[in-house]
Amino acid sequence: MSKIVLQKNKPIILSIGGSLIVPSGSPDVMFLKALKKFVDAQIKIGNKIVIVSGGGKTARHYIDAASGVQKVVDEDLDWLGIHATRLNGHLLRTIFRKVAHPAVIKDPTKTPRKWKSSVLIAAGWKPGWSTDYVACRIAKRLGVDMVINASNIDYVYDKDPKKFKDAVPVEEMRWKAFQDIVGYTWHPGTSAPFDVVASGFCHRNKMKVAIVNGDDFKNISALVAGRGFRGTILE
Ligand code: UTP
Repeated sequence: MSKIVLQKNKPIILSIGGSLIVPSGSPDVMFLKALKKFVDAQIKIGNKIVIVSGGGKTARHYIDAASGVQKVVDEDLDWLGIHATRLNGHLLRTIFRKVAHPAVIKDPTKTPRKWKSSVLIAAGWKPGWSTDYVACRIAKRLGVDMVINASNIDYVYDKDPKKFKDAVPVEEMRWKAFQDIVGYTWHPGTSAPFDVVASGFCHRNKMKVAIVNGDDFKNISALVAGRGFRGTILE
C-alpha cells in the first residue's frame, strides 16, 4: 500500500483521464455518479477540489477520423483533442452546477487563486501536451505539490507491460526512472500512464503525482485521507 499526506487547507487537484469519462462511444454514467458521490463527500468534510477532465474516446475518435481522411498536422490533432476535453469539462460543470465555479478553466495561467465554490473544473489548454500538464500547472499556481491522476490503470510498471511480460507494478518511482520508460517527446493522442511534458514539469518543480485507478473512489478517498491506497507515487 502506498501512503501520502496531502497539504492542509489546499484544494485537491484531481486529473481525470478521459478514458474514465468516455471509455467507448459515450459518457459513462456509472462513473459520473461515482465521481459525484466522491466529490459531494469531500465537500461535506470541507475540502475544495479542482477537477481536470480528459478527452477520452471522443478525442481519439475525432483524431482518428481527421487522420483517416488526409494527412493532418499534429497541432490540429491536438486541437481536436482539446475540444473533446472541453466538452467533457462542460459535462462535469453541468453535473456540478450547484457547487462549481460557473466557468470551465481553459487557461491554467488564469486559474483564480481564490474562488467561492467548492469545485473548479478545468480542461485542455493549448497543443503540445495533455490535460495532465494542465492539472500540474494549476497545482503549481495554487501552491499544491501533489496531483492525483485517476485513469484506468492500477499502477505504473517498472517497464512497459505491453512490451515486457516480466514487468512488475511499483508503489513509488522517481521521475527520472519514469521518464526513461515513457520518453520525453509528445505525440498527440498517445496514452502513457502520465504525460511526458507534465512529468518534466513535475520533476523540475519537485511535485508528486499519485497514479490511481478511477474505478475505485474508496481507494481515492483513502489516499485523500492519508491512509494506505492502491497506486503509484511518482516523485
Ligand atoms: P487528454 O488529456 O484526454 O489526453 O487530452 P490523453 O492522455 O491523450 O488521454 P487520457 O485522458 O489519458 O485518456 C486528449 C488530447 O487532447 C490534446 C492532446 O492531443 C491529447 O492527447 N490536448 C489536451 C492538448 O493538445 N492540449 C491540452 O492542453 C489538452
